Amino acid sequence: MNEQENHQPGAEVEHEPTSSTAVRLDEGHIIGTGGIPERFTNPGLPAHVARAADLDEAAARRAEKQVATLFGLSILGTLAFIVLYFAIDLDQTVFVPGIGVTNASNLALGTTMALGMLGIGFGAVHWAKTLMPDEEVVEERHPMRASDESRERVVKVLAEGGEQSQITRRPLIKYTMGGALGLFAVPLVLQVAGSLGPMPQKSLSLTFWNGGPSGPGEDPEFRPLRLMRDPEGTPVKAEDVTIGSVFHIMPEGLLPNPDDPEAEYLEKHVLEEKAKAAVILIRLDEDLIQSQKQRDWGHQGIVAYSKICTHVGCPVGLYEQQTHHLLCPCHQSTFDVTQDCKVIFGPAKRPLPQLKITVDDEGYLVSAAPFAEAVGPSFWERG
Ligand code: FES
Repeated sequence: MNEQENHQPGAEVEHEPTSSTAVRLDEGHIIGTGGIPERFTNPGLPAHVARAADLDEAAARRAEKQVATLFGLSILGTLAFIVLYFAIDLDQTVFVPGIGVTNASNLALGTTMALGMLGIGFGAVHWAKTLMPDEEVVEERHPMRASDESRERVVKVLAEGGEQSQITRRPLIKYTMGGALGLFAVPLVLQVAGSLGPMPQKSLSLTFWNGGPSGPGEDPEFRPLRLMRDPEGTPVKAEDVTIGSVFHIMPEGLLPNPDDPEAEYLEKHVLEEKAKAAVILIRLDEDLIQSQKQRDWGHQGIVAYSKICTHVGCPVGLYEQQTHHLLCPCHQSTFDVTQDCKVIFGPAKRPLPQLKITVDDEGYLVSAAPFAEAVGPSFWERG
């Protein structure tokens, strides 16, 4: 009678050391042959069949060269990625048959990065299939901490693994794989370091209210801009803003005008500019306004504040007319408009910046100065 027939549920089973080709199921599993499918009685891989590279050193050398070629392709792909990252303009387009006009930078970087990744992947798979040992080994479960003897054995097995994988004997694979894996990190670092853009403090301090497009190039010279209703694009007269009313505002000239020399820049960056310049306009009973600065920067109780939440930049679009509170829907930061948009609840750490306004000769509301501080999130200030 063999061990399988002796086994009782819950009984201790003595396992003999398992050879590399033996198959053993753990305690509690049904073991046997009567009516049990083959995949349960023999779930392991087929026994090792010698491959050409196991028997013939010339075949092994051929496999080594193939693996090295694949790693070499990965190196070329990664180097090409680095060169093309700097060489191709982000806005350049190219015609590809079957696809049409597409962005050249995306196409080139995607293709070269794919080559870099696939070279490593295919190289590793081919190496494993041709040169590495492919015999199945079963490891018995054991206590979490192995005995000192086992640990020593593991070190020895690892050393033997290195020897068996032939990495110590095949320097071509060792060096090309090292090069492919080492270089592969460069595009990731380049993308993170090179694509972050300017520091937020600088870019959020300049908005369209400074007098025009906020970058790149010279800082614009301040000029008064009419407050335009968003999305209608019509100017707002002071008399149109009744107590309790709220207007969503954009600066005059933000929408691209084909005759404008800035039109090309604006066409590409209009959303970015809008995101920074959005303002909310509210008329309060003048007696409710608690700060002199707030009064001076407004016009007869009409005040304008940046609509970009100072927590992490969501639009603050909910106005509670009875309490005069502005609420950010993202994390419920609440700003009291009668107290210069001070934070009275939530995670935001500073008030919404106020835009100084006045009226022009025709009675339209215009900006009197750009924002005095950066708009939007301020987490980067606390670093
Ligand atoms: S973004 Fe406004 S509270 Fe978080």
